[in-house]
Amino acid sequence: MLPKALLSRGAALAALDLSLPVRTAQRAASSVTIPPPACMLQPLEVPTRYLFGPGPSNVSPRVLAAGGRPIIGHLHPEMYQIMNDIKKGIQYAFQTSNNMTLSMSGSGHTAMECAVFNTVEPGESVLVSINGVWGERVAEIAERMGGKVHTLVKSPGGHFTNEEIEKALAKHKPVLFFLTHGESSAGLVHPIDGIGDLCRKHNCLFLVDSVASLGAAPLLMDQQNIDILYTGSQKALNAPPGTAPISFNDRACHKMFNRKTKPVSYLLDMTHLSNYWGNDGKPARDYHHTGPVSGFFTLRESLAILAEKGLENSWRQHKEVAEYLWKGIEDLGLKLFIKDKDLRLPSVTTIAIPEGYNWRELLTYMMKHHQMEMTGGLGPSIGMVIRVGLMGYNCSKPNADKALAALADALKHCPKSKA
Ligand SMILES: Cc1ncc(COP(=O)(O)O)c(C=O)c1O
Repeated sequence: MLPKALLSRGAALAALDLSLPVRTAQRAASSVTIPPPACMLQPLEVPTRYLFGPGPSNVSPRVLAAGGRPIIGHLHPEMYQIMNDIKKGIQYAFQTSNNMTLSMSGSGHTAMECAVFNTVEPGESVLVSINGVWGERVAEIAERMGGKVHTLVKSPGGHFTNEEIEKALAKHKPVLFFLTHGESSAGLVHPIDGIGDLCRKHNCLFLVDSVASLGAAPLLMDQQNIDILYTGSQKALNAPPGTAPISFNDRACHKMFNRKTKPVSYLLDMTHLSNYWGNDGKPARDYHHTGPVSGFFTLRESLAILAEKGLENSWRQHKEVAEYLWKGIEDLGLKLFIKDKDLRLPSVTTIAIPEGYNWRELLTYMMKHHQMEMTGGLGPSIGMVIRVGLMGYNCSKPNADKALAALADALKHCPKSKA
């Protein structure tokens, strides 16, 4: 007979009812005042959709299958081997030889908080560039933990010159400067060259968010002197949401392991995480938290796919498909939000809301009639853009054609009305 835990809930209840003596069953029934919810006795329903928004993206059957492998213990030697493989995969994807490379157990926000919490102490100056929602979030994270936050602000789609950045570094003398490489709320890929050198000159750590750009647009952590880099699993990296690779170089390690105060979060404390990932040189890895075993399987598989394909091929593929999509969008009479082609993010394209249309109606129409997700703006770009993401497994010209056909259909059928 199967152990009770392995029976389905309905079957387990039935088995209980049949086997328990009446008195025990009555006592059990009387102690339970909240009945099993009807929805929980129904099978899980998950629709099949085209996820052509800014993420999560559809993932390959190979990655899905990896997530369906049997669970093993998070401290088993085989799991350590898988984590070691993930570390190597991230080092390749980030183009870094940093020892302090690992994955967070959590989404991109976990990596954002980990980076800030570990490298900034209360009262220290932090400089955050804001040209969309992600800078706003990091500024709030740094403020919440007691950082003295200074901001460099542009409207969504704007970018910062190295001169502007250097001026602000000299003025605010931050310990950390934050920049978003792929600003997914605006559809902008920010130039990186030279900024790491400026941060070194001004004795500051350079923190870069590549959640929406890793694997889709060129980024070279070591060559571009990025001190801390993080990404998320669910975009071009193309695994399910819930894990977030991050890497710290020696400068960042020196700052975070010579603090006067403990980081505000126990879960995100890099002293513990570096041990959990076998990065601290200690002979044993101790229990810190239970990592997302299935999530790490899928992350490993997505990093393996990237390694097999090759980073440069992945960058090329995203650019080619994006250019094909951009032309199709313009052929429909729509305008791209980012005017300069070189500043357009290949993974997430932003379309200026066509005049006279209600963007919500367009998105609702595509979901209803094409089972296709595209999304509106986020934070300061709400009401300005529609976002189309073709990333990883979804990054193909046939999928771009599907997206264009859905857009054309929505434009035809959604009556022009006030947005
Ligand atoms: C550029 C960027 N940074 C950070 C995040 C946050 O990631 P998550 O939603 O996985 O927490 C996102 C998510 O869309 C993003 O696009």
